[in-house]
Amino acid sequence: MKRREEVEAGQGSTALDILQGDKLSSFGMRFDPVQGGGAQRLHMIRESFIREMTRLAITHQAINLSQGFPDFDPPRAAIEAAHNALESGGNQYTITWGTLPLREAIAAKMEKWYDLRFDPNEHITVTCGVTEAILATLMGIINKGDEVIIIEPYHEGYLPAVVFAGGVPHFVPLESPDYILDLDRLRDAFNERTKAIIINTPHNPTGHVFTRQEMEGIAELCMEFNIVAITDEIYEHITYDGHLHFPLATVPGMADRTVTISGLGKTFAMTGWRLGYACTLNPLSTILRTVHDFMTICAPAPLQAACAAVLQLPDEYYAQLKTDYTQRRDKMMEIVRKAGFLASPVQGSYYVMADFSNWDFDGDDYSFARWLPANLGVAVVPGSCFYGTKGMGKKTVRFAFAKKMETLEAAGARLWR
Ligand SMILES: Cc1ncc(COP(=O)(O)O)c(C=O)c1O
Repeated sequence: MKRREEVEAGQGSTALDILQGDKLSSFGMRFDPVQGGGAQRLHMIRESFIREMTRLAITHQAINLSQGFPDFDPPRAAIEAAHNALESGGNQYTITWGTLPLREAIAAKMEKWYDLRFDPNEHITVTCGVTEAILATLMGIINKGDEVIIIEPYHEGYLPAVVFAGGVPHFVPLESPDYILDLDRLRDAFNERTKAIIINTPHNPTGHVFTRQEMEGIAELCMEFNIVAITDEIYEHITYDGHLHFPLATVPGMADRTVTISGLGKTFAMTGWRLGYACTLNPLSTILRTVHDFMTICAPAPLQAACAAVLQLPDEYYAQLKTDYTQRRDKMMEIVRKAGFLASPVQGSYYVMADFSNWDFDGDDYSFARWLPANLGVAVVPGSCFYGTKGMGKKTVRFAFAKKMETLEAAGARLWR
């Protein structure tokens, strides 16, 4: 591992650089962005594997269980509200923090579900997806060389966000089969350079829902080391078998050091609308608003109007969401197990990490993920692209099951050859 001064000067190669180099070549990148004249910061990054897998699915006309988006529509109320907004002049920039009705709806939702109180005028910022909210927060708080703890496997967007902000990622693994966070291992990752931690629960890609005990352990370390917690709660309403989402900001002492981030894309099947939000007290709120204001100005105006309406949907919507996703989860587990994969039960989110060691396949996860759509017509994501630590995830692939039952059944028929 090269020395910290070298990392800051962008010289040599870290274990992470080498790992990313390995990833760069795994799918045959067209060119290395840095070799092509790109900035040094791109040395650690390549375009998204997940979105590349969607392109591969299109090429092979495969059933796309790679990228995490539903193949069904948002609620009718959302579409109608978006139409109305387009027809009634809602087509210009909104206030950079988001429209007041939407911020008020988010504040009401946070109070109703979690008893968390945020002032819509001060503490809530509507962003272009969770992706932007995380990036804006990191750009606002990270100085060059600050460390950010990322729990791995992690959503692909976290590493670029840390790197773009000038930070250094520090990975802490969740291990199969139960993916419970080892708090001693987490403690070992904290040091005087640690500035922030990113916590995603319900978790993509493992399906783990962090327990109160895990969250309290994380909170204790955040307070002891005086760092900021950035939470990604985009799957907050998609949990199974009595597992419940527990926001970190509700742990006593965490309210003023947590940026609670979520979005409407997954809950309301509208990932293409790019609607997310960040809730946090000051000074963190002002800090991230300053970045957001210049990064994207505002989220799409007519869709903000529609989202204010969709947040008024009654409790039955959320109950139905769980029922529907439980059916899909059960079907997905049946498919992967019958097809010979090993997979742990999924507690939340809409993914399953599946181990293909029992398949008669001589190759790693990248070759498997390339082979599967070409030969069996089902697209997945290679497991190791969710890890920063070299060698992890090499026998796994991720399936996304936010799909109509008939789509899942068709995928099952292809996999149970
Ligand atoms: C854990 C997690 N965070 C963030 C995102 C991206 O969120 P958005 O589309 O709101 O930017 C995803 C999308 O799959 C995700 O799984």
